[in-house]
Amino acid sequence: MLYDKLKDNRRIPFHMPGHKRNTTLLGSNFPYNIDITEIEGFDNLHSPEGLIKNIENKAKKIYNSDNSFLLVNGSTVGVLAGIATVLKRGDTALIARNCHKSVYNAIELIGGEVEYILPDTDEYGIFKCIDNSILELKISRINPKLIVVTSPTYEGVNSDIKGIFDIAHKYNIPVLVDAAHGAHITDYVKYADITIMSLHKTLPALTQCALAHINGNLVSAEDFRIKLSVFETSSPSYVLMASIENCLDFMVKNVKLFGKFAEEKSKLKNNLSDLKYLKAVEYDDITKLVVFTGYSNISGIELSDILRNEYNIEVEMACKDYVVLIFSVCDSFVNYKTLENALKDIDSSLYFSEFDKCLSYELPKKTCNFNIANKELIDFKNSKDRVCAEFIWAYPPGIPLLTPGEVITQSEIDYILNQIKSNVNIQSTRNKLPEIIYVKCL
Ligand SMILES: Cc1ncc(COP(=O)(O)O)c(C=O)c1O
Repeated sequence: MLYDKLKDNRRIPFHMPGHKRNTTLLGSNFPYNIDITEIEGFDNLHSPEGLIKNIENKAKKIYNSDNSFLLVNGSTVGVLAGIATVLKRGDTALIARNCHKSVYNAIELIGGEVEYILPDTDEYGIFKCIDNSILELKISRINPKLIVVTSPTYEGVNSDIKGIFDIAHKYNIPVLVDAAHGAHITDYVKYADITIMSLHKTLPALTQCALAHINGNLVSAEDFRIKLSVFETSSPSYVLMASIENCLDFMVKNVKLFGKFAEEKSKLKNNLSDLKYLKAVEYDDITKLVVFTGYSNISGIELSDILRNEYNIEVEMACKDYVVLIFSVCDSFVNYKTLENALKDIDSSLYFSEFDKCLSYELPKKTCNFNIANKELIDFKNSKDRVCAEFIWAYPPGIPLLTPGEVITQSEIDYILNQIKSNVNIQSTRNKLPEIIYVKCL
């Protein structure tokens, strides 16, 4: 295993990194002792032949993929490389509107065009799965070069990946599935041409550890490797790569623990089914729980503050109407009781309030692609009817509310200001909201 070899390495380091594994000087709070660069015998991430190839093979076996790749810059680098492998300047990608910002950034970088599939939202305002009949209609109308969907979503909603794949392949169009939140779902990979998954989100791996899988013959695995070497660091961390291997081995060795996790999570879900004002919803993904606050007198942000300040519980994400909690096989299951008691306790102190389901989300009017050369800064409050020249997201989850090229309406200005007032973390490319925004020059 890579970790053992790193641990046993006693060579005198006249090479990077500059800490020289000197734990006598630096202490051992950080893993200096196993942190090396690409030296002889430790293989090379960008053209693996030995130890790292072996880790790729472990991933191939677990996920039943044709080709697997280790990623040490998160799913972000996999998304960038995956899109750059297929899409060329001027090509159109058909993407789910609820894709992560890395998808948008990749298309902007490449100078691609974008068309959207807008999933419906459910009674809680959460994006549902992709409607495959709409997808097929759009494909036949647009003839895109690539389809990108997120599944499972941040909230844990799965789309019918096999159905999407069957439709796309009738037209010979590759599908990239952003499964950043789905690394624990091992049978997910076999359908899509490109699947990207963050090990660090739902499995025991260090932050930034991720995988990419390329299947079939619509996408060249060799081209993908070349694009990865463009976007990914040329000094990949061996600590992270060892963590990836450790995570894969853990998955193989701990099948029973995954079963126990599913059982405990299911119990928790059932125990929360009779909350009065809060609604605890599990969609398709057992690693997620959405706690909806819309029918109560508190917001999702307030719920996360109460959980943090009064119960010492930190949630993954909070927005105006709900919080998202992430669960994993590494949870201490006693904490499920703590969470259950906390939510029940909070629920008992709440009262009913009508759910103010903001705008039923509609796609803004698009006037041009993302690359806008002539832009000017104006007061955001007075930007009605101007063409936005920045991305605006709530972060997390990093799904854009507005993209460059879209017309800003009064209801969007009001919605964004309202979100900021409710302490939702709204970001923009320039990050100067709510004061100023770049718009296209008239
Ligand atoms: C759907 C989705 N895709 C991609 C990413 C990027 O993943 P990473 O943080 O591993 O780069 C995220 C991050 O939250 C995400 O939610």
